[in-house]
Amino acid sequence: MTENIVEAKELSYSYPDGHRALEKVSFSVAAGESVALAGENGAGKSTLLQHLTGCLLPSSGALRVAGLSVEKRNLPAVRRAVGMLFQNPDDQLFMPTVFEDVAFGLLNAGVPESGLEPRVMRALETVGAAHLRSRPPYRLSQGEKRAAAIAGVLALEPEVLVMDEPTSGLDPLSRRRLIGLLGTFPHAKIIATHDLDFASEVCSRAIVIHKGRVTGDGPASDIFRDAALLGRSNLEVPLSVASRRG
Ligand SMILES: Nc1ncnc2c1ncn2[C@@H]1O[C@H](COP(=O)(O)OP(=O)(O)O)[C@@H](O)[C@H]1O
Ligand SMILES: [Mg+2]
Repeated sequence: MTENIVEAKELSYSYPDGHRALEKVSFSVAAGESVALAGENGAGKSTLLQHLTGCLLPSSGALRVAGLSVEKRNLPAVRRAVGMLFQNPDDQLFMPTVFEDVAFGLLNAGVPESGLEPRVMRALETVGAAHLRSRPPYRLSQGEKRAAAIAGVLALEPEVLVMDEPTSGLDPLSRRRLIGLLGTFPHAKIIATHDLDFASEVCSRAIVIHKGRVTGDGPASDIFRDAALLGRSNLEVPLSVASRRG
C-alpha cells in the first residue's frame, strides 16, 4: 500500500498573538489526487498551506508529508517533496532572467551547472514559456509570471504541487491556460482558492474550510453542488455548476 502524500491529523494552529487559525484539521491526500482547498478570505487556507512546507509548525496534532513528519529535522526533505507556488508570483521570482530563476532552484537542489539547460528548458516548455527564457521576470504580465513561477517549481519535480490562490490577478485567457496546464500534471495538487469555478474544473475533490475547521470533504462534483454547505461556509455554488443544473 502506498502511503498518502499528505496526512493531517487534528492539526491545530494558533498564531503568536493567540489567534486560533486552524482547529483540529484532519484530511489526507493520495498520490496524484487534485484537491481544492475552498474557503472564504480568512478561512485558514494559507495558514494550512504554510504547514505543508513547514513554514509554520502545528501547535498540536500531527502532519506528515511524503512519509515524513513535518518537524524541524525533516524540513529539507519535506521541502524537496513539496512544490509551493505563492499567491503572488513576485514573491517567487527574483533573478535577472526567467532562465536564471528556474535554474536557481535546481542549483540549490544540487543539480550541476552542466545539467541545468535541459531541465530548465523542459520546465519552461511544459508551461509554454520557453520564449520567455531571457526576459526579466519583473517585466512579464501576471499570466507570464505565473507560468515562470510554475516552471521553477516543476523543474524541481516535487511529489505534490501546492498553490495558493493561483488565479488571482489572471485575465480570462491566462486563467484558461492555467486550467489546461494543471490538467496535464501527474503530481498530487492542493489548490487553495475561493474561485470555485476554477476549482471545479481542475480538482476532482474539494475540502471546504471555514473559520479554521474542515466543514466538508468529498468529490468536487458533490461539494460544489451543495448550496447549504457552501452557504454555511460563506461560499457560493460556482456559476459553471449552477448553470449545469438546469
Ligand atoms: N500572522 C498572523 N497573526 C495573527 N493572525 C493571523 C496571521 N496571519 C493570518 N492570521 C489570521 O488567521 C486567519 C486565517 O488566515 P489565512 O490562513 O491567511 O486565511 P485565508 O488564506 O483562507 O484567507 C485569519 O483570521 C487571519 O486574520
Ligand atoms: Mg490566503
